[in-house]
Amino acid sequence: MLVLLTLCFCLSSWDEQIHHLRYDVWEAAPEVQFSFPEMPVPYSCAHQPSLVHSSSGTNQSPGQKPDCIPKVDIMFMKTHKTASSTILNILFRFGEKHRLKFAFPSSRNDFFYPSLFHRSQVKDYGPGMCFNIMCNHMRFNEAEVTAVLPADTTYITILRDPAELFESSFHYFGRLVPFTWKISGDEKMKEFLNDPELYYDPNGFNSFYLKNLLFFDFGQDNNLPMDDPRVEEGIRAIARRFDLVMLVEHFEESLILLKDALCWDMDDLLFFKLNVRKGSTVSKLSPELRAKALQWNAIDWKLYQHFNATFWRKVEAYGRERMAKDIAELRRRNAEMATICIEGGQAVDAGSIHETSMQPWQPIGEKSIMGYNLKANINKAHQKLCRKMLTPELQYLTDLGVNLWITKLWGQVREILDW
Ligand SMILES: *[C@@H]1O[C@H](CO)[C@@H](O)[C@H](O)[C@H]1NC(C)=O
Repeated sequence: MLVLLTLCFCLSSWDEQIHHLRYDVWEAAPEVQFSFPEMPVPYSCAHQPSLVHSSSGTNQSPGQKPDCIPKVDIMFMKTHKTASSTILNILFRFGEKHRLKFAFPSSRNDFFYPSLFHRSQVKDYGPGMCFNIMCNHMRFNEAEVTAVLPADTTYITILRDPAELFESSFHYFGRLVPFTWKISGDEKMKEFLNDPELYYDPNGFNSFYLKNLLFFDFGQDNNLPMDDPRVEEGIRAIARRFDLVMLVEHFEESLILLKDALCWDMDDLLFFKLNVRKGSTVSKLSPELRAKALQWNAIDWKLYQHFNATFWRKVEAYGRERMAKDIAELRRRNAEMATICIEGGQAVDAGSIHETSMQPWQPIGEKSIMGYNLKANINKAHQKLCRKMLTPELQYLTDLGVNLWITKLWGQVREILDW
């Protein structure tokens, strides 16, 4: 079975393969139904009454409303290439701290992306069950997501400048899109952007990675012409559903707004940048290429501009000075944690990471993602927190009980093929 499966992986694409696998399972077991009996999910799944009181105790942050109760029902729409692994680490730790129930995918780290989300993809799903947090990659599907989560869920997501996102997506996923194989030369992205229509095929396999990927992730049609009313409607639907839309370019401001939206403490926001690409702090786009990338990803650009405006209105409402003060505090605390936890105080190349469990997942064809080494003699009080803060996403998912056999098998196949 395993040998057969491995062979199939070589011949067919990954996502197609997953689908075949699923259909096979369904065909073999006809009693598995696509539709579940309708059973209402409770209004709230905050199961620990103690939580309600914890924030009125001594660790109340200054400036927090006295009736602020930490929100524990959270949907994080994880978009691609948007620093979302760092946010996942924050959510994993928060979930563990409060013993929350995650709606995880089963056997892999995403909800069968790029298929639209369906409740049957949730590990151990049953109608009427209570889940607190949903945060793995998916192609958003509002009706199905809201059917799984309680009504008091706070919906959050994060966007990135579409030109930078396109560059990153082209870099990481370009070779998974067959129509890029015929692009000649070393500067394939530049070549593509010079005349995208020459290469792009909306029906081509995996084509969504190279046009309006954000809009696609939100379950919308990424190939709409700009004058189609469904562009506006799509943006409005996202604005209606999501309580907070963060921006990668203003990551710390985003986290402070998150703290405000969820009534969290500063402690909950502490983070080290995970899944960082080597040399990623400098843009690889010239102004000309940037303009072309924005023009090509015009829907995402419109989406980004819309939520950039709402973002800054929120910062304004929060208070500029208060924001600056909170960010300074967050930076100070993060720097303090880095000194306590990290060998050398900063990220290193994958080859310099000593512990295999600290190795981040690498993209196909390279070892560009950096990671960290835990310090040798961390004091008892910080040992656990340090380890959790530095644990890469896939290892953390495994620690939380997700069996990633499909993801791992895929990794082994890649190794055999030397991808
Ligand atoms: C985002 O909004 C700010 C504040 O209105 C503005 O200064 C900035 O130019 C906007 N950026 C983009 C990319 O639209």
